[in-house]
Amino acid sequence: MKLIKAATPAEAGKLAADIFEEIIRKNPACVLGLATGSTPLPLYRELIEREKAGKINFAQVRSANLDEYKGLSGDHPQSYRYFMQENLFNHISIDPANTIVPDGLAEDAEAMCADYEKKIADMGGVDIQLLGIGHDGHIGFNEPCDHFPAVTHEVELEEITREANKRFFASLDEVPTAAYTMGVGTVMAARKVLLIATGKDKAEIVKKSFFGPVKPEVPASILQFHPDVTVIVDEAAASLLD
Ligand code: PGA
Repeated sequence: MKLIKAATPAEAGKLAADIFEEIIRKNPACVLGLATGSTPLPLYRELIEREKAGKINFAQVRSANLDEYKGLSGDHPQSYRYFMQENLFNHISIDPANTIVPDGLAEDAEAMCADYEKKIADMGGVDIQLLGIGHDGHIGFNEPCDHFPAVTHEVELEEITREANKRFFASLDEVPTAAYTMGVGTVMAARKVLLIATGKDKAEIVKKSFFGPVKPEVPASILQFHPDVTVIVDEAAASLLD
């Protein structure tokens, strides 16, 4: 594991963008595994700026997102498809047809999840998987449980996660109770993993995940076993590390 300390979330975004830039330059048709949430926003802003400045080009890049709320359509303002359009895709040259996000409105959840895995495999797998981390150690929507889920699947959301995400909804009642997420196995199959954690509220889970025992009760801890994982933390998120 490579641990990189940044002074601020903005610097973490820049350092993450350097890693993305190198991968896109090497392979202009690479497959990016993307994430939503507050953490990736400085990175996405940086990527938009770098394409505007002619440093990178997204025209051939493909992407697969980690997760989506069950029951929300892609044009619902709180859906993760909408988030990606607003915060990245609408501002870069990526072809929307080359971006996939699990379908929140799928009638047959199991078939959609199986198809999502197939789509990722057909793309040739993920070159770099971007991750944030939940306060409970979740990656994507893989919540603490008694095993590491292998593939894309439906999950019931933990109250701590619904509480954390209610800031985006009118009330807690409107936060969906279920979601679709890549499995921990899907994430581990990415050729490279880049996890960003910023803010004091992530300090404890960063310590537990990367310096504690590997166990499914702390889903992110399995990343200790990934052969190419980079963790970028800002000063606040690194504050409990020695
Ligand atoms: P955040 O979410 O970036 O909004 O903190 C991270 C996550 O829940 O994975």
